[in-house]
Amino acid sequence: MTQTPLHHDDVPVADVSGTGLTATPTQQAMELARRHGPVFRRRTREFQSLLVSDVDLVAELSDEQRFAKAVGPALENVREFAADGLFTAYNDEFNWAKAHDILMPAFALGSMRTYHPVMLRVARRLLDSWDRAAAASAPVDVPDDMTRMTLDTIGLAGFGFDFGSFGRAEPHPFVGAMVRCLDWSMTRLSRVPGTDHSERDEAFRADARYLASVVDEVINTRAAEGDTSGEDLLGLMLGARHPADGTTLDAANIRNQIITFLIAGHETTSGTLSFALHYLAKNPTVLRLVQREADELWGDSPDPEPSFEDIGRLTYTRQVLNETLRLWPSAPAFGRQARHDTVLGGRIPMRAGEAAAVLIPMLHRSPVRGDNPELFDPARFAPEAEAARGPHAFKPFGTGERACIGRQFALDEATMVLAMLAHRYRLVDHAGYRLKVKETLTLKPEGLTLAVRARTAAD
Ligand code: HEM
Repeated sequence: MTQTPLHHDDVPVADVSGTGLTATPTQQAMELARRHGPVFRRRTREFQSLLVSDVDLVAELSDEQRFAKAVGPALENVREFAADGLFTAYNDEFNWAKAHDILMPAFALGSMRTYHPVMLRVARRLLDSWDRAAAASAPVDVPDDMTRMTLDTIGLAGFGFDFGSFGRAEPHPFVGAMVRCLDWSMTRLSRVPGTDHSERDEAFRADARYLASVVDEVINTRAAEGDTSGEDLLGLMLGARHPADGTTLDAANIRNQIITFLIAGHETTSGTLSFALHYLAKNPTVLRLVQREADELWGDSPDPEPSFEDIGRLTYTRQVLNETLRLWPSAPAFGRQARHDTVLGGRIPMRAGEAAAVLIPMLHRSPVRGDNPELFDPARFAPEAEAARGPHAFKPFGTGERACIGRQFALDEATMVLAMLAHRYRLVDHAGYRLKVKETLTLKPEGLTLAVRARTAAD
């Protein structure tokens, strides 16, 4: 919806039309928020966005009566390869409600239990790989290995499809094509007009075609098994009928959903686990607390069998993940648009359809976090402390009915894997790593490697 914004207000404007968006637009926005405050407009040559990180304003933007999800310029670009998949669908697109209703059962608590054996099986692939690295005294590439693990997990748990990532010297080509498509979606925002981008666009189209071909392989593999029913994501997409009209999802939408889930279902969890391992390696006291929690459940068994119930008992490990998501929410922004003409915070007029982006890393560093918000401290997420801050100070999974459908899936997987890794290894920051955050729409610690050693009784 295009409307002329009103903008008769005192919101500061950060004009970056000279330099444009950098290769790290989230971190650029964080710097601008530090300079201009928790609400400002970022003006580039092509567009202007209202960026918000004030807790009270975010509480207003989370009011579903006044605001809804906005598919902003970055997601418009993602629509070029995910179209009306759940993540990029417009609110009023019929396929959003239809797919949401059909797929919700796959994210109910009972389903989480059925994914547990698969999550454990893939976690063991990761441990085998790290055992080999430990024996060879070779460092591990953390984001690469977390991506291998999360991709295999969503492939197997969601679609019964095995990417076999740990049996390959290089990550599955799906990962490279996906990263390039996401990167294209992000860098397309900062194009200098008049420059020729046809080569990049052609490369993007080739990558998008390749992603679609992987989807066909996923569907054909299921069809070859002769059973298209089942309660995983693919079974529901192929077989479940919508209660309202009795139809299943159409073939084009199924493709879009599979691409969406293969990407959304692993990229962000992988980044979160990678940041968490970085913080554990840098904070030995926190690492010891995670290890103690895991030891209480699994003793010194070299090959523990974590149960589904154990995941709920790993409460400190969950605090570590929450604190990681606070500092580096791997999906760092979400858009909200006004349902009607309204005034945000009593002073910022917004027309119906006008959008604001919540800059999550700065929301998470807001004054409610005390005077040292950069400090990594999982104690912040002790249940009483977090409850006192209210529901709008922490939004790594977005908000409202368009919030992350895979939140519990991600947290179950990440909690179990983090505890299993801490239980088994000493994490050694062998290279004196300094955090550098890479952005490809999502966030990851760039170039993070760790040395891993089997724990001894002394550890
Ligand atoms: C939506 C973050 C893991 C599937 C979202 C949104 C955020 C988010 C912020 C809302 C975006 C918006 O409002 O525009 C994360 C983070 C994850 C994670 C930080 C991991 C730590 C997952 C997993 C899955 C998943 C594991 C699937 C198994 C989705 C889908 C949507 C979504 C399908 C769109 C929901 C809708 O609009 O109906 N996620 N996500 N995510 N996420 Fe996640």
